[in-house]
Order: sequence, then structure tokens, then C-alpha cells
Amino acid sequence: MSAVVKKAAVTGHPVAHSRSPLIHGYWLEQHGILGEYARIDVAPAAASDFYRNLRSAGLVGANVTVPNKEIAASACDWLDETARTMGAANTLWLDETGRLCGANTDGMGFLGNLDQLAPGWDRSQGTALVLGAGGAARAIVWALLSRNFTAVHVVNRTEEKARKICDEFGSKTFAHGWESLGTLLGKVDLLVNTTSLGMTGKQPLEIDLSNLPRHALVNDIVYSPLETELLKQAEVQGNPTVDGIGMLLHQAVPGFERWFGVRPEVTDDLRALVLKDLGVFV
Ligand code: ATR
Repeated sequence: MSAVVKKAAVTGHPVAHSRSPLIHGYWLEQHGILGEYARIDVAPAAASDFYRNLRSAGLVGANVTVPNKEIAASACDWLDETARTMGAANTLWLDETGRLCGANTDGMGFLGNLDQLAPGWDRSQGTALVLGAGGAARAIVWALLSRNFTAVHVVNRTEEKARKICDEFGSKTFAHGWESLGTLLGKVDLLVNTTSLGMTGKQPLEIDLSNLPRHALVNDIVYSPLETELLKQAEVQGNPTVDGIGMLLHQAVPGFERWFGVRPEVTDDLRALVLKDLGVFV
């Protein structure tokens, strides 16, 4: 009798750029698991049916990427608290009774990265400043509130989008336009860039960190380049920093554990492998 090979996949439209097959492939090999992790392009119009019929596609679960995360959440029979809060799921699996379950692990990826590279970072439970108000910012605001930060300021070029996030997350969150940045920086314990500014090929992130308290941790979720201008400036000032590649790696951990039954580690080797594949200069 041949062993059953469990198969999962990253799904989205497009999926050609996704590094998830590389990450899960590394863990499958490392743990000697006879499994597969594929890449399946699923157009939004076909997505709901596809996720409802995961088993007939031969899958035990899937990752979901842009633009299908909201559709995937709607297709699920059960969502964990984060996916329910976000209205978006990036990790799907079938439970023992065949129900389609969904989670959103972006916030956990953010927390896992800081927990690994800056242990004790959340001890202050103080004030955080999140730059940007897209999907990543929402997940990160959720994550910071889950670690009991007292105040989370969301600063965005389009203030209205920051306000929408803060209306949703309640009284510990505060929305601002970009012009408030200078004043706010003087009182934060954590600064996170979730905008695309500073990414290779995008506009630079123009920011003056001289007001930032020296103990404040600076994290950029941009990982190409790995050491962004924001992180360089923070380092020159003597602030602790954490780069962004770990968030991508840590968000993959819960899915692998669900599908293949082993909690995988985010190792230096995995970091190096993914950065090399991305062509990121370290
Ligand atoms: P994601 O879902 O990956 O977080 P997104 O929804 O595209 O990405 O959000 C990108 C973020 O980068 C937004 O906060 C965006 O600001 P706006 O909401 O005002 O568009 C921010 N951003 C992108 N280009 C920018 C620029 N040139 N100046 C300031 N902010 C910028």
C-alpha cells in the first residue's frame, strides 16, 4: 500500500512570484516528510468554488494570497479570531469533519519575527507607531493590541484609511495624517513601516528619526532591500532594529503545522535561502 502524500498549495492570482513553495519545500525536506506544496493560480471569479472544493483538488489545505484572501474567508465554515477580525484568510485547512477552516497568520508572522529577533520587545506594552494603513498595517495593529500595547498610532498619507482601521480597533488606536509624524516620533517605543516606501523601485521613505527615543525598536516590513534606509538611519542613531524577511517566514509556520503535523523552525539557513532566491543583497 502506498503512503498518502499530503498536498497543500499557495493559491492566488498571480502566484508565480510567491516564495511559499520554497519555504514549505525547505521544511518538508528538513523534516523528511513525504508531502507536496504546489502553486495554483486561482482567478477571483473561480476562487469561492475552488476553496469550497479543496478536497476534490487533492489538497489538505492552502495558503491564500492577493486578491483572494477576502473571498477565502467568505468561503470558510469556520474562521479563527484573526481571520474574523480581518475579514480575510491566508491559511486554510479541512478539519476532521471536513469543514473548511481559515486563519489569518500575517499578524502572527509579525509577532513571531520580533519574538525571535528582539526577545522581550513587547515588555514595555507602551506606545507604537505604525506607518501605513493597508492590509499589513491592519494585521499589525491587531497584533500589537493582542500584546497589550497601550496606544497604537496609525499614520498614513490618506488619513481616512488610518481612521477606518482605528474606528474598527477602538479606543487604544489613533489615526493621523503624515504631518503628525515628527511630533509623534518623540514618544514611541516601537516604530513599524508597513508602507511600500523604501522598497527597491519605489519612492524613498523620507523620515527624520532624530526625535525618536534611543530605546525605541524600529521594524521595517519591507525586505527588499533587507537593510532599508529606515533601518540604516535607526542603526546609526543606536536604535535596535529588526528587518522584514522574518514576517514572511513566520506567517508560514501555522499552515505547515496544520497540514503536515510538525511545527517548523525559522532558521538562518531558511532566511538565507529565501533572500538568495529574492536576489536580496545581504
Ligand atoms: P498592503 O496591503 O500590502 O499593506 P497597500 O494596501 O497597497 O499594501 O498599502 C500600501 C501603503 O503604503 C498605504 O498605507 C499607502 O498609503 P495610502 O493609503 O495613502 O495610499 C502607502 N503608500 C504607498 N505609496 C506611498 C507614498 N508615495 N507616500 C506615502 N504613502 C504611500
